[in-house]
Amino acid sequence: MHTGETITQFISEEQRRVGGATGEFTALLNDIVTACKYISNAVNQGALVGVLGTAGSENVQGETQKKLDVISNDVFIKANEWAGHLAAMASEEMDDIYPIPAQYPKGKYLITFDPLDGSSNIDVNISVGSIFSILRCPEGVTNPTAKDFLQPGTKQVCGGFALYGPSTMLVLTTGNGVSGFTLDQNVGEFILTHPNMTIPEDTTEFAINMSNMRFWEEPVKRYVDECLAGSTGSRDKDFNMRWVASMVAEVYRILTRGGIFMYPKDTKDPSKAGKLRLMYEANPMGFIVEQAGGACSTGRERVMEIQPEDLHQRVPVILGSKNEVERVVAYHKE
Ligand code: AHG
Ligand code: MN
Ligand code: MN
Repeated sequence: MHTGETITQFISEEQRRVGGATGEFTALLNDIVTACKYISNAVNQGALVGVLGTAGSENVQGETQKKLDVISNDVFIKANEWAGHLAAMASEEMDDIYPIPAQYPKGKYLITFDPLDGSSNIDVNISVGSIFSILRCPEGVTNPTAKDFLQPGTKQVCGGFALYGPSTMLVLTTGNGVSGFTLDQNVGEFILTHPNMTIPEDTTEFAINMSNMRFWEEPVKRYVDECLAGSTGSRDKDFNMRWVASMVAEVYRILTRGGIFMYPKDTKDPSKAGKLRLMYEANPMGFIVEQAGGACSTGRERVMEIQPEDLHQRVPVILGSKNEVERVVAYHKE
């Protein structure tokens, strides 16, 4: 029997070590964990509980919402609105921020989340997940507006994601390394199974949606062409490719065995700087990847240093094994 450290114990002890912990952060994280357990259960039950398929609505990004996008968003809100740790929430699936309703106490944190990442994979039974980022509500602000969320990724207190795969996992950082937990379904607790996750600096595995190739910029084309040429080209080694279309699954793979993941800038829709969203996807994942020794860039700048201008802003993302990300960044400079 595995009787390892639970996520609550791990976070409480980590907070105690850094000092001044009031227990509020641990309690907030517990509510997020509860949301992830609910979503995990819904994903796992699938067709048995009628959660597959589309909801018949569109989100603010103009994407068709799946039933599970909407359900997961509601679960996140219900699990987090009541306890008094948050001043407001923002989600990929909501046009505007969600202020804490008047009947509940307010707290000092803000969260942003992608309640269900990889939604195109729900109906085909491939891994999906949830991504979240915790920020501090600016000092003196009791009724935050969207602009109070517009903090660069370097200000994050915590970045994390849940992965609903063959095992349900939770991966998080508070700026002190990266820890991975596995949900023990019988006990209902996330148990620390992957302490100090680190990303190897080198890799021979890349992930990109190749169908967008004709829309890419020159530096990304060059990098991928060199990977494809493998041992017959300038890289002198063969590469392998993966594309799950769930960022959570790609990042988890990279945390486990290295790799590079790219959703670069492209000309497919000139109104969008990239596909992935800065506040719900790029920043929390960037925080985790950097804390594991990897890198996360747009190709031109460090993702976590971007000053957000809009809640739903999209950015190019190139993340993973450090030496490979740095190579792509160098190609952008040339
Ligand atoms: P979401 O399901 O939250 O909209 O995010 C999907 C994202 C990301 O997880 C994945 O890497 C990428 O979109 C897949 O995009 P393509 O379908 O264009 O490959
Ligand atoms: Mn997503
Ligand atoms: Mn999503």
